[in-house]
Amino acid sequence: MGEEELAVEFGTVAEWTADAVDELGPEYAIVAGCRGSGDPALLDWLAKACGIGPGTSLVDVGAGVGGASAWAAQTYGVRPVLVDPMNEACRSVRRMFELSAVCAAGERLPFVDDQFDVVWCVGVLCTVHEKSVLLRELRRVLRPGGSLGMMVLVAEPSLHSDVPHGNEFPREDELVGLIDDAGFVLRELVEAPIDNVPTEWTQQAEHVDELLEKLHGSDERWLAAQEQAKKMSHLLSTRQVTRRLVHAVKSVGAVS
Ligand SMILES: C[S@@+](CC[C@H](N)C(=O)[O-])C[C@H]1O[C@@H](n2cnc3c(N)ncnc32)[C@H](O)[C@@H]1O
Repeated sequence: MGEEELAVEFGTVAEWTADAVDELGPEYAIVAGCRGSGDPALLDWLAKACGIGPGTSLVDVGAGVGGASAWAAQTYGVRPVLVDPMNEACRSVRRMFELSAVCAAGERLPFVDDQFDVVWCVGVLCTVHEKSVLLRELRRVLRPGGSLGMMVLVAEPSLHSDVPHGNEFPREDELVGLIDDAGFVLRELVEAPIDNVPTEWTQQAEHVDELLEKLHGSDERWLAAQEQAKKMSHLLSTRQVTRRLVHAVKSVGAVS
């Protein structure tokens, strides 16, 4: 992804989000932390598919400001470790939630082999160029038989509009190939609808957006981030890009 867009969208806005939660109250933290990719139905699907519970060791790679993991901690009692390359995102996680966040790229994770029961990677794959490197690294840190849960934005054949900077959406068949080549066995691949979000969740997200707009509406970094968000929401609402939920398990043995 272009360095500047990455820094604004996943860095500056992450910090602003934590500021907004300070002002609105902690009950806004999970929704604010899920801006963009997560909603309860999607996260519940991932948690159930991956068999998450209080004793599960979970790493959330590309966790952003941590809404997905914080939701899993609150709902399923898991204690996740969060990873994101953006310092501001990791700082915001620590401000908004009592969770540990490690600043690292998903392609070079600072963990030993076979360390985790479950790896999550939610809304990240399309922002990464070296997708097969990332997937192999996710596999490395997962124990044999452990679960990979992902939400992936995929390109539909109708895709023709401008895509937000730095996004390279795989087609569904490319995604299946990448998962297989990285040494996972695909268990489930389903579409996640975009219109299955509870009203209370949507209202909280709107309050966060209104406050961010009020505080930063004339800042060119906010305007640039909004431009990206507008492009993404157009792609989703016109089904040029759709969301896939993936559950795969780490195959036993080495990958060629
Ligand atoms: C669309 S956000 C999704 C954030 C979060 N998973 C969520 O669902 O709200 C994409 C995240 O991927 C992170 N990211 C970008 N490149 C990455 C990489 N190479 N390795 C790990 N994370 C990356 C970004 O910093 C950003 O936080």
